[in-house]
Amino acid sequence: MTTPLKSFVTHLECSATGEPYPAAVLHGLSKTGQPLLVRYDLDALAAVLTKEMLASRPPDMWRYREFLPLPSNIEPISLGETITPLVPVPRVQARLDVADLLVKDEGRLPTGSFKSRGMSVAVSMAKALGVTRIAIPTAGNAGAGLAAYATRAGIESFVFTPADTPEVTAREISFHGANAWRVDGLVNDCAQIVADGKEKMGWFDLTTLKEPYRVEGKKTMGLEIAEQLDWRLPDLIFFPTGGGVCLIAMWKVFNELKQIGWIDDPLPRMVAVQSTGCGPIVKAFDAGEREVAEPWPNVTTGIHGVRVPNPLGGRLVLDVLYDSSGFATAVDDAAVHEARAAICAEEGLHLCPEGAACIVALEQERSSGRVSSTDRVVVFNSASGLKFPMPPMDRRLEAHKPIDYSTLGGAA
Ligand SMILES: Cc1ncc(COP(=O)(O)O)c(C=O)c1O
Repeated sequence: MTTPLKSFVTHLECSATGEPYPAAVLHGLSKTGQPLLVRYDLDALAAVLTKEMLASRPPDMWRYREFLPLPSNIEPISLGETITPLVPVPRVQARLDVADLLVKDEGRLPTGSFKSRGMSVAVSMAKALGVTRIAIPTAGNAGAGLAAYATRAGIESFVFTPADTPEVTAREISFHGANAWRVDGLVNDCAQIVADGKEKMGWFDLTTLKEPYRVEGKKTMGLEIAEQLDWRLPDLIFFPTGGGVCLIAMWKVFNELKQIGWIDDPLPRMVAVQSTGCGPIVKAFDAGEREVAEPWPNVTTGIHGVRVPNPLGGRLVLDVLYDSSGFATAVDDAAVHEARAAICAEEGLHLCPEGAACIVALEQERSSGRVSSTDRVVVFNSASGLKFPMPPMDRRLEAHKPIDYSTLGGAA
């Protein structure tokens, strides 16, 4: 299956061996079982695109089309992937004593998470290349994204998610029309179901990093940050890391931007935020290793997005951390839940647990000294807080009885 080549993609290459693969063909992993990365003719891209041209385009992720693999003659499968704001959190910034602290709030995107970026591009490419059935293992949000974009594209989707996936997201997957299944296990168990059923069911496997185009969609996070900050990147970027696609994607596009001369400052130090109850990247980084040698043995965290015991892209994530002089750090669930509530009350910004984990990590690393008071920091809120459980609210009044207004609360 081929499609007319009207993009800047020259080829794909194996992320381990560099072996080239043709563009405009449906791909999974490389022959050696490694993720494939998309390569572009960046000189040709830079010859036709300017920052000024970008600035005049509509405010959505498809404004960066030249950096994406979808041929220009094909309409993207899109649900309105708006540019997400960099929200200042001045009280937290003052408390943590950093020069600048911005939250990139990905909760504003379709299906309420950053996953829509990867899905918009991956499903657009799959549709263009003739795919009719897609399957995915997911912590939840990627499944919601796939369900929505596949439905939009007229593609059948099959979604496998751990049984304890947050209720809103589990229902959302099914509500969007996917063949949705809760699995009594973790995301790696879901992945096994997809791998085993693939042949029999005729599925295209959209497992994290098993196809090359979700990474490309997630590059738009890095492009947006660069453009929003007038092409001067922050000193550090914190991302809650499960499969690690976002760190890989942002680092990839920062290097593409550097190559075409659009940014020349030192690139940001990239930080992988994980959990003390599932931190395979942190463990490998602390041991100075270049690969995640063995799966995290006993997963105890309830922070769903980072609950990936054996990330397929572990080597690529570790490369990003070493190449960027970044690091990996693990946080406790209890501190995360406390921070989520505190920031919601303090700043009016409702983070998801994974987003709150980034703030806890930043606080930890200010104390450790890995982050200094002169640093400009961007942390990611990877999904809307509304997708996750909140404490109950069941204070009630009877409408037709007298009310003692002095008991309603508020400052004295
Ligand atoms: C809310 C949330 N944050 C973070 C992540 C982790 O993202 P990545 O797999 O790109 O590391 C996920 C993935 O499921 C997620 O749902």
